[in-house]
Amino acid sequence: MTVLSTTAAEPKPGTGTVLLASEEVRKSFGREGTPVLDGVTLELREGEFVALLGPSGSGKSTLLRILAGLVQPSDGTVLVRGLPLEGINRQVAIVFQNFALFPWLTVLQNVELGLLSTELSQSEKRERATKAIDLIGLDGYEEAFPKELSGGMKQRVGFARALVVQPEILFMDEPFSALDVLTGENLRTEFQAMWLERTIPTKAVLMVTHNIDEAVALADRILVFGANPGHIRVELPGVPTSERHAKSGARAALVDTIYRIMTEPNADAVAIAEEAALAAGGERAQAPRKRQTKRARSKAAGYQRLPDVSVDDLTGFVQYLGGIGGQANLSELGRDLQVRADDLLVLVEACDLLRFVDLKRRVAFLTELGKRFAEAELDEEKALFRAAVAEQVSLIRFITRALEDEPSHSLEAQFVLDELEFAFRPKEARQQLETAIDWGRYAELFTYDQVSGEFRLDEEHRLGSTESKGIGVGQEQP
Ligand SMILES: Nc1ncnc2c1ncn2[C@@H]1O[C@H](COP(=O)(O)OP(=O)(O)O)[C@@H](O)[C@H]1O
Ligand SMILES: [Mg+2]
Repeated sequence: MTVLSTTAAEPKPGTGTVLLASEEVRKSFGREGTPVLDGVTLELREGEFVALLGPSGSGKSTLLRILAGLVQPSDGTVLVRGLPLEGINRQVAIVFQNFALFPWLTVLQNVELGLLSTELSQSEKRERATKAIDLIGLDGYEEAFPKELSGGMKQRVGFARALVVQPEILFMDEPFSALDVLTGENLRTEFQAMWLERTIPTKAVLMVTHNIDEAVALADRILVFGANPGHIRVELPGVPTSERHAKSGARAALVDTIYRIMTEPNADAVAIAEEAALAAGGERAQAPRKRQTKRARSKAAGYQRLPDVSVDDLTGFVQYLGGIGGQANLSELGRDLQVRADDLLVLVEACDLLRFVDLKRRVAFLTELGKRFAEAELDEEKALFRAAVAEQVSLIRFITRALEDEPSHSLEAQFVLDELEFAFRPKEARQQLETAIDWGRYAELFTYDQVSGEFRLDEEHRLGSTESKGIGVGQEQP
């Protein structure tokens, strides 16, 4: 039996030195090729096992090859212990899905091949290869040829050839997926024991897989990849090693969360993960870490992303929910309203931002405020909307403050757009602005003149400041 425990003296996974990192790595093949990777930023630290989970074709193997220095990124940087990578990354060895063995070489020769580019003498190579073969359970197969071996044994050769170089970092590209289930499970457990007991000198592992259970069983940290082009959707902490046994509730819960994320390729993965973390009792250890992409950084710096939803759709959705009893699950909603899952989620996100709707366990339901909004007559509806927007939407607050501060009470939209472009890409910045115009106008916080491109404070509502109107506006109408 394998004892799943780390040595007490080890640093906690994820706190060690950064051995390898990518910064905003992009890749397209060919001159005008479609992008395969878009702005991938990640770190691999000493002592950690990271899994990269994602649909096929999302660029996972390409990313590994870039990190290994076998392929050049089109843009962005790979850093090895903080220094830009040039040429092949000598710290890395790779285990491939299809074993990549030479059929005309024996097991021993295939393993020795891993040492081809080292300065070792032939006898040293032999000694190292023999040790690796022993370690990985291939003793007695030294002189066998690959065609004589089962899939599991072939992959053991793949592991031995990678481990023989005693790499600081081990990459595994779907290492168990070509094996039948039991063989894969067996090899995985053996490898896991070697890793956890530090039988191998490898300091960090990065494994690509499309098998959720495999990622959860092995990894300290899981990066979920999305496709078209490949990017990291969310980063999730793994289950602590002490709770990684097959019957662990924590493991099952994480598998479930990741399953949901992966079956909803267009959903907000961070939101799903956060929701799951809350459902699990809000344990800090389970909190998903937001990706520190440029956009996430700007969000952390105080920018909020306004969902691209028109006031009409937003209002219509809240009223619809009110009309069907105040709650509905997302799949029913998608079906009944004939909207795509991702559009629906953006709609829910917008309503959630204004505190009209809450989402729990895939059920959207109206808050007290949302119920009032759904039932309100136009005047009260506007007042509630104005209060919600003034309270929750930082971009609209920014515009109204600037308008109040300006002696002329006018403001060029271009100024706002310039601000937004610090945080968002141009297209997205423009969309943010348009949403703010739509919402702010409806809320009667400001007017916007399309021709001059200027905001003006809505004179009629200027005197009563937005704050004093507050959420309490919704008293009985006369
Ligand atoms: N050398 C290459 N030339 C052109 N396209 C490539 C090359 N390598 C990979 N691709 C394309 O990049 C995309 C991602 O491939 P890959 O990295 O293998 O994805 P994954 O490992 O996630 O399945 C695919 O569309 C694939 O066709
Ligand atoms: Mg692949």
